[in-house]
Amino acid sequence: MHYSLEGQTALVSGGATLIGEAVAQALIGAGARVALLDIDPAGAAVAQRLGERALFVPCDLADDASLAQALAQVHQRLGPVSRLVNLACTYLDDGLASPRADWLRALNVNVVSAVCLAQRLHAELAAQRGAIVNFTSISARCGQSGRWVYPVSKAAMAQLTRSMALDLAADGIRVNSVSPGWTWSRVISEVAGGDRAKADRVAADYHLLGRLGEPAEVAQVVLFLCSEAASFVTGADYAVDGGYSVMGPERNQPAIPRLAE
Ligand SMILES: NC(=O)c1ccc[n+]([C@@H]2O[C@H](COP(=O)([O-])OP(=O)(O)OC[C@H]3O[C@@H](n4cnc5c(N)ncnc54)[C@H](O)[C@@H]3O)[C@@H](O)[C@H]2O)c1
Repeated sequence: MHYSLEGQTALVSGGATLIGEAVAQALIGAGARVALLDIDPAGAAVAQRLGERALFVPCDLADDASLAQALAQVHQRLGPVSRLVNLACTYLDDGLASPRADWLRALNVNVVSAVCLAQRLHAELAAQRGAIVNFTSISARCGQSGRWVYPVSKAAMAQLTRSMALDLAADGIRVNSVSPGWTWSRVISEVAGGDRAKADRVAADYHLLGRLGEPAEVAQVVLFLCSEAASFVTGADYAVDGGYSVMGPERNQPAIPRLAE
């Protein structure tokens, strides 16, 4: 019963992806209506698969006019929003060589769009004592070769979650984040040539549970954070990473036995 979102309207940014679809599916399963905002027209097919409780609204989250138009449509079709999931991202990143324009574009999509959505939805989230879930990543906490922009944007999302939680608590809005590990998704599928078994084999070295995560496994934690079951949870980051973040350099080479050799 605590997981019920009956009568609630959720907005999922970046809803055209595998992870976005899984999040929407979980929220709909709990009774919510869900607006999927995405620049990718593939979101229409996702909404169709999800059924009548889903609404796809094409939107460039980095553009204020597009955002205003999209929210007007959401309000008209689904009413006030009480749950906001900031999931959209770009992986635009060329490490050291990334030009200023790429930095600004990526931070605009990955971070600033979440702020703009929260600003525009603040009054209705407060009126319904709603919740926000931000997507950060394992990439927020460690250096990753050749990647500068994306990890910085995800670290910013972790800090944004703390700032939002602090300033929105008085309005009754809870704000938390999820930090997924490698999750079966468009980007992983592309890199692995669609070979799931290969992706799991490579992921096994980096995740204690020996495989990739499923989009649905990330979605279950988002659902929890959106629900009344998490009524005393705010400002928290939930690792959904199969143990990636607790693994130190000693995992495969225990240091004490080696010292005693
Ligand atoms: N895939 C993973 O293994 C993984 C790991 C850790 C964290 N994450 C996080 O999970 C979330 C989803 O990741 P994913 O791999 O499914 O990403 P993805 O690239 O498949 O999806 C991101 C979505 O954002 C949309 N988007 C990009 N720019 C936009 C814009 N300007 N306006 C509107 N929509 C825009 C894209 O069209 C896309 O549908 C991200 O926040 C990512 O950081 C993913």
